Amino acid sequence: MKTKLLLFAAVVAISLTSCLKDEAVTVTRAYELDDYETIKAHLNLPIQVDDYVLRLPATVGGFEVFADNKQATLGRVLFYDKRLSSTKEVNCASCHKPELAFTDGEQFSLGVATERTSRNTLALGSFPSFNAYYGFGGTRMFWDNRVATVMEQSAETMKNPVEMGNVDLADVADKLLQEEYYKILFKNAFPHQTYLSNEEKMLMALQAFVSSIGCFNTKYDQELIKNNGNAKVEFAKFTAQENRGKELYNTNCASCHNLGAVAFSTGIVAANNGLDINYQDTGVGAISNMPSEIGVFKTPMLRNIELTGPYMHDGRFATLEQVVEHYSTGIKNHPNLHENLKENGVAKPLNLNESDKQALVAFLRTLTDKESLLASRYSDPFKH
Ligand code: HEC
Ligand code: HEC
Repeated sequence: MKTKLLLFAAVVAISLTSCLKDEAVTVTRAYELDDYETIKAHLNLPIQVDDYVLRLPATVGGFEVFADNKQATLGRVLFYDKRLSSTKEVNCASCHKPELAFTDGEQFSLGVATERTSRNTLALGSFPSFNAYYGFGGTRMFWDNRVATVMEQSAETMKNPVEMGNVDLADVADKLLQEEYYKILFKNAFPHQTYLSNEEKMLMALQAFVSSIGCFNTKYDQELIKNNGNAKVEFAKFTAQENRGKELYNTNCASCHNLGAVAFSTGIVAANNGLDINYQDTGVGAISNMPSEIGVFKTPMLRNIELTGPYMHDGRFATLEQVVEHYSTGIKNHPNLHENLKENGVAKPLNLNESDKQALVAFLRTLTDKESLLASRYSDPFKH
C-alpha cells in the first residue's frame, strides 16, 4: 500500500538524518478566517493545527514519527463523533477514553447493542503497539493480531454489530460531509487526493489520529534517559521498592513486554502466557487455525498500565496485584505456553514473596504518563 510505504520511508529517512526536522511543518494559520468561524461554531480547534508528530526519546529509538497534522485533526473530530455509530450514541471514545489511557475501565465494553464486546478494550498508545503499520513487520492490532492497520481496524469496528452497529461506511462519511465544517476539515486534510473516496479519507484520518497517540514521558523513561538507556542500573529518582521492581521486571517480564527501542523491537508480539488450560477464546489460533497458536494473544503494551484495568484479553483480573499473582503462582502448563515462562519444559511460577510482589506493582506504576494522555490535541473537540 502506497501510504504505508511512504510512511515507512518517512520514518526511516527521519531516523537516519535527524536534520530533517523541518519535515514537521508548522502551519501558521490552517484555515481561511470565515472557514474558521464556521468551525468554531461547533468545535474547539486551534487556528493553527496541532502538532501530532511523535518525538520518541532516544531510549525508544530517538526519531520522529511522521504525522499529517491536518489529517490527524480531522481524525480527532471523527474519533469523538457519535454519528460514526448506528445509534449515533457511540463514538470511539465511548470505549477509548483518554484519561484511562484510551480504555474504559470495563471488563467488556458497551457499544450500540445490549450485549457487551467479547474482549477487553485495548489501550491505545501508538507506536509501540502499532509498528506493523509503519512497515516494520512488528506488532499487529487486536488481541488476535488480525489486522495490520488502523484503517482496517476502524472499518471492522464500525461494521461490528456490537461495537458501532454495522454502519455503511460510505454512507456515514457522505452524511458527515453535509456539514459545512466537515467539508472544510476534509478539504484541508485531503486537498489534492481526488482519487480517494470519502470513506477512505475518513479511515485515513482516524488512522492518522490514533497513530499519533504516544506516551513516553513516564517516570521510568525520564530516569532511563538520564542513564543513557541503561535499565540495569539503580535509578536515582526511584524508591528502593521501585528499583527492586525494575530488577524483577527486567529478569522476568522484559523479554516479552519490551519497553525499549520499540521500532526495532525483538519483543514477543504475541504469546500464550499460561492463563488457562482450556481457552474458550482461542485468540490468534482462531484466525490462523494453527493448534500451536491456541491461547496466543497480543502482548499488550504496558505503558500506562495502572490506568487500563481490568487486565488480559478477557479482563479477568481487576488489579495489578492479581496480574502479578498470576505470574507468581498461577501460570498454567498449556502446551503452547511461551518458552519465556518455562523452565525445563514446564511452567515456571515466579513464587515471589509479598514484598517482591508489591515491588513489581510499584514498578509498573512508574510507566504512567497521564500528562501526555490529557494533551488537548487528543481531547474531545465538540462544543456540546
Ligand atoms: C464498543 C467499544 C469500542 C468502540 C466503540 C471502539 N473500540 Fe476500539 N477496541 C475495542 C475492543 C474491545 C478492542 C479489542 C478487540 C479485539 O482485540 O478483538 C479494541 C481495539 C482497538 C484497537 C487495537 C489496539 C491494539 O493495540 O491492537 C484500536 C487501534 C482501536 N480499537 C481503535 C478504535 C477506533 C479508532 C474506534 C472508532 C472508530 C474504536 N476503536 C471504537 C472496543 C471499542
Ligand atoms: C511469554 C511472554 C510474556 C512474559 C514473560 C510476560 N508476559 Fe505479561 N502478557 C503476555 C501476554 C501474551 C499477555 C496477554 C495475554 C492474554 O490476555 O491472553 C500479557 C498480559 C499482561 C498484562 C495485562 C495487560 C493488559 O493490558 O491487559 C500485564 C499487566 C502483564 N502481562 C504484566 C507482566 C509482568 C509484570 C510480567 C513479569 C512478571 C509479564 N507480564 C511477563 C506475555 C508475557
